[in-house]
Amino acid sequence: MRRAILAGLIGFLLTAAASAQPASDLVAPEPATRPAAENAGRQPVTAEKWLVAAANPLAAEAGAAILRKGGSAADAAVAVQLVLGLVEPQSSGLGGGAFVLHWDAEAKRLVTLDGRETAPRAATPILFQDEKGEPLKFYDAVVGGRSVGVPGTPRLLEALHARFGTLPWADLFGTAIELAEEGFQLSPRLLALVAEDSARLARYPATRDYFLSGFMRALAEGGRIRNPAYAETLKALRDRGADAFYSGAIAADIVAAVREAEGNPGAMVLQDLAAYTVKEREPACAPYRLYLVCGMGPPSSGGVAVGQILGLLAETEIASFGPDDVRSWQLFGDATRLAFADRERYLADSDFVPVPVRGLLDPAYLSARAAALEPGRRLEEAEAGEPAWDHALNWAEEPALELPSTSHFVIVDGEGDVLSMTTTIENQFGSRLMVRGFLLNNELTDFSFRSHRGGVPVANRVEPGKRPRSSMAPTIVLKDGEPVLALGSPGGSQIIPYVAQALVAMLDWGLDAQAAIDLPHLTNRFGTFDVEAGTSAERFVPMLKAMGYEVKTGELNSGLHAVAIRPGRLEGGADARREGIAIGE
Ligand code: GLY
Repeated sequence: MRRAILAGLIGFLLTAAASAQPASDLVAPEPATRPAAENAGRQPVTAEKWLVAAANPLAAEAGAAILRKGGSAADAAVAVQLVLGLVEPQSSGLGGGAFVLHWDAEAKRLVTLDGRETAPRAATPILFQDEKGEPLKFYDAVVGGRSVGVPGTPRLLEALHARFGTLPWADLFGTAIELAEEGFQLSPRLLALVAEDSARLARYPATRDYFLSGFMRALAEGGRIRNPAYAETLKALRDRGADAFYSGAIAADIVAAVREAEGNPGAMVLQDLAAYTVKEREPACAPYRLYLVCGMGPPSSGGVAVGQILGLLAETEIASFGPDDVRSWQLFGDATRLAFADRERYLADSDFVPVPVRGLLDPAYLSARAAALEPGRRLEEAEAGEPAWDHALNWAEEPALELPSTSHFVIVDGEGDVLSMTTTIENQFGSRLMVRGFLLNNELTDFSFRSHRGGVPVANRVEPGKRPRSSMAPTIVLKDGEPVLALGSPGGSQIIPYVAQALVAMLDWGLDAQAAIDLPHLTNRFGTFDVEAGTSAERFVPMLKAMGYEVKTGELNSGLHAVAIRPGRLEGGADARREGIAIGE
């Protein structure tokens, strides 16, 4: 890192740590994202045996080391996640949750595992409301113990390894422990995000000590940081499995941090942690052209929404229009709006609320809804439909705010197993509570803050033991019963259009994995078009405005990672908007 930036960061963090100035008054010394991915000049990484693509080079390399040794995709995923929790702690980690899609090459079977956080048993539908029943301000809810769900990632890693691992569990921890003990180089993106968030990070002592004072010392010494507390947590997990996390001293510290969070405590108890389970869910699969596009079903809305967007677009000429025709983007945006209208009404944790997944993905239902899509003409209103279903459909619409954080990685191993995992602590730096070297999530703010609208209940309202609705969309595409593509992205509810756009780019427009990721983003979830600033997508702005859309130009920092499985060749892509890379052999 250049000397001037380093000096700027040290000064900046010193000021921020001392004054805990509001983040909005502060300007980050270096942008956290590099939006012009299309100009990064990356080529796809090609490989013959195995491939891993993840959001940080150290994490991708940890996965590659396991694959080189002959480990399975599941083994590599454990190693990648343990390192991500150290080097990209703002996005995912032991204190969060995740979804995994796993293709077992031998059994020819796709399994989806739900390691989503759960609401503590004491949580109620008014968790995020003030005394008048009005929703709290977002960050008033996020920062502190109130937003923390029971973490799922440690149990998920254990379950994944138990089912699909081949190397010993303890062998997967080496790189993460070594990096935590000996130190790793802080990345520009992490530093920029710490600087942006310094006021919130300063609020709790353990978090402030690591991210502000600790980073400051590390920067003064050249930018390497150690996290010995994380190394100790990893050793406990290595030696005693996930039980070491869900009971005993680590669990006690999690509960204490949540319950004693000054100004905004939560109600988690030890029994909440002890009761946590990983759930195998039915994949949400939708046909598209010659393919079957499979994703994560409820409690994620990701698989259903991506499948709906594609099902709607299957009825249009988007494939022949191509990426340079504004009608492709208008149709893509309007199809996304229709999918989001259904999502806001119907999608929630299906263990608590009956969700009409089959009806929502039924080609006849989507074909009828696609009749509203007209090339070159803006869809006036996008309302929820009425999919076939034998349960009551009377839910109130409610968008839940999901802001961009999270991480995604893909892995193909030497035996042909394929893994697509999206992993999160929700907001950047989660709840800002740090315990034993890792951050606790704020996943409960993915619930609707409102419990009812006009007397009608919201499907995604808070309930004890329920899992908040997600947008995470880890995806595996099958053709003739074999995987041909795996991908996913972070980005809050923008995950859904990021993933659907990359699928259209690869499946319809024939782009390779890297070109599809680099393609500038144009998304439309709720009526306004979001156009990626500083990219060639800006040429569409006047045309979209002429069709009557409101248009907002800004940062759309996906973190797409994808692998295309071609005959005899793997082709990987990583998103230049963040810091990821693909490695293969
Ligand atoms: N917290 C991001 C998501 O689950 O979609």
